[in-house]
Amino acid sequence: MSGAVDAVAELLSRARRVVVLTGAGISAESGLRTFREAADRQEQSTSRGGVPPTMEGLWKSFDPQKLATPEAFEADPEMVTRWYDHRRVGCLAAQPNPGHVALAEIERRVVARGGVFTLLTQNVDRLHQRAGSVNVVELHGSIIEWRCVKTGRKVTPGPGAMTEFPPRSECGALLRPDVVWFGEMLPETAVRAAQEAVAECDVFLSVGTSAQVYPAAGFIHAAARNGAKTVEVNKDPTPISPMVDWSVLAKAGEVLPEVVGRMGE
Ligand code: APR
Repeated sequence: MSGAVDAVAELLSRARRVVVLTGAGISAESGLRTFREAADRQEQSTSRGGVPPTMEGLWKSFDPQKLATPEAFEADPEMVTRWYDHRRVGCLAAQPNPGHVALAEIERRVVARGGVFTLLTQNVDRLHQRAGSVNVVELHGSIIEWRCVKTGRKVTPGPGAMTEFPPRSECGALLRPDVVWFGEMLPETAVRAAQEAVAECDVFLSVGTSAQVYPAAGFIHAAARNGAKTVEVNKDPTPISPMVDWSVLAKAGEVLPEVVGRMGE
């Protein structure tokens, strides 16, 4: 692995335009569960007081069709908002881990030498921003903010669990998490920003994602088509592992600080 870490550090030391795509795996070492892994292979989730070893990944604990779709919200707004508020409180209790901090440092160094750095995240936990990342594009929205279904007005609920379900906005209409549900379009501004960044990048890093959900996963293929050098840092093999220039199968919280340590200033 050390040869790959050296090569990735060298790539990032010379890169002019870097794009990073992150998924739930970068937040796993902060105690937040991923979506498609068996919990018994995951870090025991600390933010929820541990996950019973028998429980599967997040989606297997809950039927996504029951919770993460507009139809589910329509059918049972109380159940959906309770689940999302439970996750929101977990995200606020979690702390950025060394993987998040390393990506913020890589951004700082690339920008300090006049380069461009764009962090595309599928995560809704805002841990990248809390770790110091600046140019973050939230492809799937944010669980930290909620919005009025009638006016679209955004609110940021306080740190404690909500007390009324389903929550309502000032006008009395329902509040929903400001996330992208299955079947919904990604925010136009986010997609445009991602497409522009990917079109011009010379290095593309995929970190902590199973690279199975589109359009996010498509950005990896677009970068490769545009001639960018592609790198994957992921605990397990994914569909892109055979196609990237460097695939480092390890934990982000361990590898990324290593990469930073071997990069030039
Ligand atoms: N370091 C690096 N990778 C890790 C770590 C870690 N510490 N822990 C887990 N992983 C990897 C797993 O091997 C897995 O391949 O992170 C990946 C997480 O994959 P998913 O659970 O599928 O999460 P993600 O790719 O973010 O899912 C994409 O799907 O359900 C929707 O909207 C949801 O944004 C999410 C999207």
